[in-house]
Amino acid sequence: MPRIVRPTAYGTPDVLTVTEAPTPSAAADGVVVEVRAAGVNPIDWKLYSGAFHDVDDDHKDAAGLAASMPSLGLECAGVVTEVGAEVTDVRVGDEVIVYPVTAAYADYITAPADALFRKPAQIDWAQAGALMLTGTTAVHALHAAGVGAGDTVLVHGGSGGVGLMAVQLATAAGATVIATAAERNHALLRELGATPVVYGPGLADRVRAAAPQGVTAAVDFAGTDEALDVSLELVADRDRISSITGSPRRAATGIKSLGYGPGEDAGAELRNAARGELVERAGSGALRVIVDATFPLAEAAKAHEVGIAGHAPGKLVLIP
Ligand SMILES: NC(=O)c1ccc[n+]([C@@H]2O[C@H](COP(=O)([O-])OP(=O)(O)OC[C@H]3O[C@@H](n4cnc5c(N)ncnc54)[C@H](OP(=O)(O)O)[C@@H]3O)[C@@H](O)[C@H]2O)c1
Repeated sequence: MPRIVRPTAYGTPDVLTVTEAPTPSAAADGVVVEVRAAGVNPIDWKLYSGAFHDVDDDHKDAAGLAASMPSLGLECAGVVTEVGAEVTDVRVGDEVIVYPVTAAYADYITAPADALFRKPAQIDWAQAGALMLTGTTAVHALHAAGVGAGDTVLVHGGSGGVGLMAVQLATAAGATVIATAAERNHALLRELGATPVVYGPGLADRVRAAAPQGVTAAVDFAGTDEALDVSLELVADRDRISSITGSPRRAATGIKSLGYGPGEDAGAELRNAARGELVERAGSGALRVIVDATFPLAEAAKAHEVGIAGHAPGKLVLIP
């Protein structure tokens, strides 16, 4: 019987449970995909952490009702096993990247045909399953901050999943990139074309020393007060600062807040439009999808514990 991983309550990763589920059927305009790799992202554990819900100790919502548990897994890659009657350009056996999806922590998923992209042969399953969420987010953040040739952009959290994409995309666009990261990750950032600086007290001075010409834009993937304060201090135009980590302070400053919270720009159209080019870049080797570790699907809880604790740069990926 196919498996799916779900949280059974709000809490820490030990609430994740592997359950059996019937093999899904394709809708007329969709397909069924056997998942070979599902990317893990911080949103996955935030969804059942209670961070987005007002839940009490009994895992009830504010109205006292049992909170409905979210599905997990927003990106994946796999092999098409069934094709809906109205789908013309996809065949059983096609190797595809699927994004967006909502329940990719599973052996099988259903997806609309317009969420499919052919998996380039040059990247492996784990890379294919981990490309899209961070890639599209990085494109959105750089676009919102107007980053292009001639800019010097400060990337907060340059060693994270989104940061590694943004560093590469900004460099390819002709920008000079200063990226914050722990020292252990600096060699990789240099390899990708960025000048790394350590985050923490004195950050603004270190960035000034690394970029005496000045910083024209900043993208925040770290979510700290420091990232916001240093961006505001070094970038003259608030329209050229974007953040994917919402907070009331960020909202109050007038910078570009990107995401799915109230008042944030989800950028769905822009992110969807970026998918094809990301696949092409990954296939040609122009964009490296860096994978830190893979875990069997049944060890999703372990993958989340590693993700929450912090780890080497690159994505965590589940392999059914
Ligand atoms: N709004 C959206 O659409 C959207 C989309 C994707 C992600 N997100 C959010 O964006 C954030 C980043 O996602 P991700 O996938 O890139 O996460 P990630 O892979 O876990 O990366 C986290 C990054 O934060 C850095 N970091 C850790 N502690 C820090 C500190 N005190 N100061 C500055 N930087 C610090 C890490 O650097 P070192 O490892 O070098 O210490 C790493 O570069 C998460 O909060 C995620 O939920 C939002």
